[in-house]
Amino acid sequence: MGRILIKGGVPLRGTVKVSGAKNASLALLCAAILAKNEIILENVPDISDVRVMIEIINSLGAKAAWETPDILRIVPPEKLNAGAPIHLVKKLRASNLLLGPMLARFGQATVALPGGCNIGIRPMDLHFKGLTGLGADLYLEHGCVCGSTSERLKGARVYLDFPSVGATENIMMAATLAKGQTLIENAAKEPEIVDLANFLNAMGAKVRGAGTDVIKIDGVPSLNGGVRFPVIPDRIEAGTFMVVAAATGGDITMENMIPAHVQPLIAKLREANAEVIEGEDTLRVCVNKPLKSIDIKTMPYPGFPTDMQSQLMAMLSVIPGTSVLVENIFENRFMVADELKRMGARIKVEGRMAVIEGVDALEGAQVKATDLRAGAALIVAGLIASGETEICNANFIDRGYHNLEEKLKTLGADIRRK
Ligand code: EPZ
Repeated sequence: MGRILIKGGVPLRGTVKVSGAKNASLALLCAAILAKNEIILENVPDISDVRVMIEIINSLGAKAAWETPDILRIVPPEKLNAGAPIHLVKKLRASNLLLGPMLARFGQATVALPGGCNIGIRPMDLHFKGLTGLGADLYLEHGCVCGSTSERLKGARVYLDFPSVGATENIMMAATLAKGQTLIENAAKEPEIVDLANFLNAMGAKVRGAGTDVIKIDGVPSLNGGVRFPVIPDRIEAGTFMVVAAATGGDITMENMIPAHVQPLIAKLREANAEVIEGEDTLRVCVNKPLKSIDIKTMPYPGFPTDMQSQLMAMLSVIPGTSVLVENIFENRFMVADELKRMGARIKVEGRMAVIEGVDALEGAQVKATDLRAGAALIVAGLIASGETEICNANFIDRGYHNLEEKLKTLGADIRRK
């Protein structure tokens, strides 16, 4: 499972290049199977979730391979091999994004009920609502989601009771090859949704309104492919480095990122007295006065991102005063609180709310990552704690961060893998 050792207490300073977005890359890899011809994806992060997704689409008949450390060449499948292998699909929640493309292109789909981080129940009712609305017949069998459609999918009007990212992506992808127009109402507006829409349109789809509440898709007979497409930068990796800069009292400039994608975090770090200087594709975060406690509510984009909540909890645990975190997206995303308490944090969790009483300092300890972003939060905590912190289950961190230790070392961190 891997362990990371950190000796904390050093303000981190310097410049770091942000990698491509995990959550955009995973969606684009699924969308690639819709196309008839080869695709080149640039700025793809070499992280374990991407490697698993590559294995999954190759098992379906695609031929995806790295051309360079961050460029992927993908030859889409001409026909489907058997369903995606269960041992791989169970590792990755995002494998459920294969349903829409498989149904749209091949009229059939078998995907094991996905695994992924244990941050919540992770239902798929909205995926099912949308895909059955387009005419697919979906059912569960032996822990798999199976789907088929006797004829071409038909455009439909789908209202999402919750602006689910995955459901929006699955329905959007399926609708690109459906007959007629599909409307997705109360759609998710995350930057990864817009990136997926841009990719689909580059391949010949007709998607409008991505990034707003209503997405319109006019179905086309087929998607060409034959495109070279750069993945957007990872706003959560950028956000994690922003929090590292503020929490360690350092001064870090993130390059190759899009400040507009992290506006909620910029606003909250400024509220906490950190200094944030925005460039065109850079962001600098530094600390020139004592930080103060703040309150956070996670919300769908453009609200505060749930994927940054654990990292903020670590930072706020040593800021004087009381901070309140409300997690409105997932029902079990405070697991890192118990590990932070082992380091001396004072956090009380009540349902969707966590109340943090800032302490003078955290102390290094042996802690364990329970999910990807909890692992990132423990890295933040280790960097600010006195003494040495050992993070077990470090492979969770490898799911979503490329070369994180190396990047932190260049910023002055005393961090190594054991
Ligand atoms: C995506 O997950 C991201 N993963 C998550 O990032 C992110 O936290 C999440 O969106 C929210 O922004 C990828 O893109 C691969 P949702 P997804 O469907 O699509 C409920 C990370 O750390 N819901 O928007 O699974 C669900 O229970 C990961 O990078 C339904 O009720 O998220 C949850 O409460 C973690 N029915 C809420 O919506 C459904 O059919 C948000 O889920 C689907 C979802």
